[in-house]
Amino acid sequence: LPIDQSGVWRFRDLLPIVSDFDRAVTLREGNTPLYELPRCAKAAGVDWLLAKHQGMNPTGSFKDTGMTAALSVAADRGFEWVACASTGNTSAAMAAYAARAGLRSIVFIPEGKIAWGKLSQSMDYGALTIQLKTDFDGCVNILTDLVKRFPIYLLNSVNPYRLEGQKTPAFEILEQMDWQVPEHIVVPGGNLANSAALGKGFSEMLHLGLIQSVPKISVIQAEGANPLYRWFTDTNRIMRPVTADTRATAIRIGNPASWRKSAAVIEKMGGWCEQVSEAEIALAKAQIGSEGVGCEPASAVTFAGLKKLVAAGRVLREERTVLILTGHTLKDSDYTINYHRGELLTAEESAGISAADRVLHEEL
Ligand code: F0G
Repeated sequence: LPIDQSGVWRFRDLLPIVSDFDRAVTLREGNTPLYELPRCAKAAGVDWLLAKHQGMNPTGSFKDTGMTAALSVAADRGFEWVACASTGNTSAAMAAYAARAGLRSIVFIPEGKIAWGKLSQSMDYGALTIQLKTDFDGCVNILTDLVKRFPIYLLNSVNPYRLEGQKTPAFEILEQMDWQVPEHIVVPGGNLANSAALGKGFSEMLHLGLIQSVPKISVIQAEGANPLYRWFTDTNRIMRPVTADTRATAIRIGNPASWRKSAAVIEKMGGWCEQVSEAEIALAKAQIGSEGVGCEPASAVTFAGLKKLVAAGRVLREERTVLILTGHTLKDSDYTINYHRGELLTAEESAGISAADRVLHEEL
């Protein structure tokens, strides 16, 4: 069966989703590689570092694991239209899965604020692609109003079935590590659904008695789009949305929908929330690239954040850490080219690179 080739549907006994699995909408997502990053490990000061590369999914991001689940529900319920607001990856995934299911899709994206690779995907897969003169948070507001008035199935990450699909990489990591539980998982934080979904996946394994402990889950945000970091470090614990700005456009989000779930995962599982600068992101991305792996900027915040967690003594040298690389390097090739031409970072941003990292930065 096609679903047996899917890294999501092969876990169907653990997914509270549609009855008729033969009709599941799949592109054989999941089953992504777990790579060793020995040079990055050394640079961060740990013995051991792995990357779960979710960018190796059919449309090049982790969003496919959630979209196969949610689109199958949309098709099962007889919807003709689906829609999402997106910083580019959700829309690429939704457009592809909707096309497979024979449904029409509408995408709202912030004009000029998403990578070309992602924009081209939603057009290629035939979505009605609408750029709005606002940011991601503005797109969400407009879409929320639209779905109240028309029979359109909403595929933003507030859709619970997306989280069900997105929890399955936790199962795969355990399988790939022979059911040894890593000490730490490091995830980028944007709208904050992915960290919540992975936390759910590991917790379910614990409740089923398949593992005896869960990893800590830490979430890393860009300094310019850091509402969870601010909440985490605020003694009064008040969530204040921010006006977001970062070149890691995938996570340029100021008012994250799933922040409560993500915060609960960090607190319950014992991780941290950290923020990283534009220079730290660029350098981390180049280091991951130089291992022959590569990822998009938003994914590189994980490695940039890990360095900080190690330096602060929050991740110990012998702890086994898995970075979640959420998107493929080809998603945003402009960013990569600009970095290596020396045209990405401003003089001020470059000046902020630490002495230790400067050597690497100049080598790369
Ligand atoms: N990494 C990439 C490559 C992403 O595309 C996103 C989110 C994230 C990380 C953050 O994940 O939102 O679950 O915390 N992209 C969304 C989109 C918002 O529209 O494609 P999160």
